[in-house]
Amino acid sequence: MNKERKLIVAGNWKMNKTVAEALALVGDLKLELANVKEVDIVVCPPFTAMCEVSKAVLDSNIRLGAQNMSENNAGAYTGEICAGMLKEFSVRYVILGHSERRQYQKESDALISKKALAAHAASLKPIVCVGETLDERVANQTEKVLETQVRGSLSGLSKGQMEETIVAYEPVWAIGTGKTATTAQAQSAHAVIRGVLAKMFDETVARRVRIQYGGSVKPANARELMSQPDVDGALVGGAALEPRSFAEIIKNSI
Ligand code: PGA
Repeated sequence: MNKERKLIVAGNWKMNKTVAEALALVGDLKLELANVKEVDIVVCPPFTAMCEVSKAVLDSNIRLGAQNMSENNAGAYTGEICAGMLKEFSVRYVILGHSERRQYQKESDALISKKALAAHAASLKPIVCVGETLDERVANQTEKVLETQVRGSLSGLSKGQMEETIVAYEPVWAIGTGKTATTAQAQSAHAVIRGVLAKMFDETVARRVRIQYGGSVKPANARELMSQPDVDGALVGGAALEPRSFAEIIKNSI
C-alpha cells in the first residue's frame, strides 16, 4: 500500500495472557512477521509479561508498548507504574486514555495530557486514544467530542512532541463489539482529528502525525480501513490475541 505516513499496527492485549501464553504468542508473531519492514509493529502485553516479552522481541522487528502508565515519575502511588520502569524493558510506546480507562478509571483529558507529557519526557511515544460513544454519534456530537478530546488530551505538547505522538481513533461503540466503523466513517473522523491538530499546531505537524483506527479490526476489514488516506494504521484488541489474525492484519495492510 502506498501511504504518505508509515503504517503502525499495535496489538493491545488488555488484561489477557500469562507469561507463558505471551511468550507463545510473540514467538509465533516473530516467525510470521520476520520479513515485514513496511509497517511498524507494536505489541502491548500486560505489565506482568513485559520483562519476558521484552527479551523475546529483542532481536526482532516487533516493538514493545505498555497499556498505561502513571503521570508521576516516582513516589507513593500504590499500584502505579512510571515511565522510567517501562524504559527498563525497552518499551517504546505507551497507550494512554484508552476508552476502557476513561470509562472504568475515570481518566480525564487533563490527566491524559499529563501522562503524554511524562511519556515524552522519558522518550516514550504515546498512543493517545479518542473516540465517541454510540449516544454521542447518534446525537451528531462526534466532531465536537473528538475536538474536545484531542485538544484536552494533547494540550501542552510541543510541535516536536506532537509529531512523535500517535493518535488512535477508537469509536467506543466499535470496541470489542464486532461492529466496525465503515471506511467512510473512519476516514471522516480521522480527517476531523487531523484538522484539529492543524489548528492546534500547524499543517505540517498535522500531516506528519499518524492516526490509527481501532475498534473490531480484523484481517477481513484491515486493508480497506488502512487504504483510507488519513488512516495510518490500527490499534487491535481481540484480533491481536491470536498470532494468525494479528499477522494477517499486518500483512493485509502492506
Ligand atoms: P477490539 O479492541 O479490536 O477488540 O475492538 C480495540 C481496542 O480496544 O484497542
